[in-house]
Amino acid sequence: MQYIIGMDIGTSATKTALFDITGNMVASFSREYPLSQPQNGWAEQNPEDWYQAAVQTLQQVVQTSGVDKSQIAGIGLSGQMHGLVMLDEHYNVLRPAILWCDQRTENECRQLTDMLGEQLIQITANPALTGFTAGKILWVKNHEPHIFARCRYILLPKDYVRFRLTGALATDVTDASGMQLLDVKNRCWSQTMLSALGLRENMLGKVYESSQASGDITPQIAALTGLREGTPVAAGAGDNEAAAVGTGVIFDKTAFTTIGTSGVVFAHTSTPVIDPQGRVHTFCAAVPNTWHVMGVTQGAGLSIQWMKNTFFTKEAETAKAQGVSAYALLDKMAENSPIGANKLLFLPYLMGERTPHLDPNARGVFFGLSGMHQKADIIRAVCEGVCYSLRNACDILREMGLSIADMTACGGGASSAFLRQMLCDNYNIPVKTITSNEGGALGAAILGGVAAGVYTSVEEGVRACIRTKSTTTPNLQAHERY
Ligand code: XUL
Repeated sequence: MQYIIGMDIGTSATKTALFDITGNMVASFSREYPLSQPQNGWAEQNPEDWYQAAVQTLQQVVQTSGVDKSQIAGIGLSGQMHGLVMLDEHYNVLRPAILWCDQRTENECRQLTDMLGEQLIQITANPALTGFTAGKILWVKNHEPHIFARCRYILLPKDYVRFRLTGALATDVTDASGMQLLDVKNRCWSQTMLSALGLRENMLGKVYESSQASGDITPQIAALTGLREGTPVAAGAGDNEAAAVGTGVIFDKTAFTTIGTSGVVFAHTSTPVIDPQGRVHTFCAAVPNTWHVMGVTQGAGLSIQWMKNTFFTKEAETAKAQGVSAYALLDKMAENSPIGANKLLFLPYLMGERTPHLDPNARGVFFGLSGMHQKADIIRAVCEGVCYSLRNACDILREMGLSIADMTACGGGASSAFLRQMLCDNYNIPVKTITSNEGGALGAAILGGVAAGVYTSVEEGVRACIRTKSTTTPNLQAHERY
């Protein structure tokens, strides 16, 4: 029997999971690390923390699984996208990594837009956004010129971990798309973008397709973790693109919706389509020569969690005493409010908004509150606000000509039948779930399996590992009401 490992270097933790080659999870460990916010709107992490978490979770997975190291065929990496890691000529980290959720680069984004004009969307397929890496590089150049002068290599979070595990300076097309330095249609570094930022190509990792091998586990890492020296490590993918593999969203007309802290609507496409207004992101996908379009709403699960923690602490305690989930109890309460929550509307912009407004300063709203509203209406309005926001993203993808016939729900929110039905009635297409909850880690492992030759293609890996668990069908009347 052969096995594959997927490692997801997330924002709150690194998770490493070992799967058999039909996608069943055998062992999984995660290790958390801190996020520092030295100023309002800033978010940084220490790359050494990612590396320590990677080594520890690899060690735990290898040692507890009882699987012999010779049976572990390959490893794939996935991770938080867009984060900026700068190294000097001796490969030392020059400053804390600036993360995807850091909002300090509003001026630099304006500067990039002024410098590059229309070329920016033509080459990188996206407008300058505060989350993306290019603006962060420009910020360091503008505000910490002494650091920029010493910078010899620029890596993304998972690519820094790859460097420590294999010695290879490499990245993959999906994560590189989120740097805003890649020519997204041609899947190579853009000389125009590099010269605009004053960078040389040899400062960046070699760009691979996600399922290609990028390097091998070094003897030192093998000794530390119990892995076999020379175990191949696939280029891997950004967390969303790895989740697409891990949910089987790698064919035209397939899409997924994540209801995590943020919400994502992600559709696969074999031709690169770009929204001229930049409301959704177009990046390379993890299958060679394919792309995806993705809308992001910042406050999805976040809004529901905020509502629970702010207004429903008593209900959460009751749920705890009954041994049920607080969210399940709130879903039950919300069923007492009709579609439309008795004309109460909620806009879920607690953390600003990306799709469709691209406005970091947008804020949440309850609109239409009246004396007749009950708790049930509040819960329903918040859930509907989140679903309307996801539908905004889905509608833009449809406007761009992407037809979506197969939608998979994932993330914490997907476990709620109430939310799945609401989503399904909004989209007016069936919404399914799959048996695995491991999204990103499973997707990364499948990519590792392709790199190791276990599967001949990403498609073959997906067919071996991904199975449908449930399908929710739309209610036409409800759709019309929404
Ligand atoms: C994608 C994005 C997030 C990060 C963090 O554009 O910013 O999904 O990858 O998970």
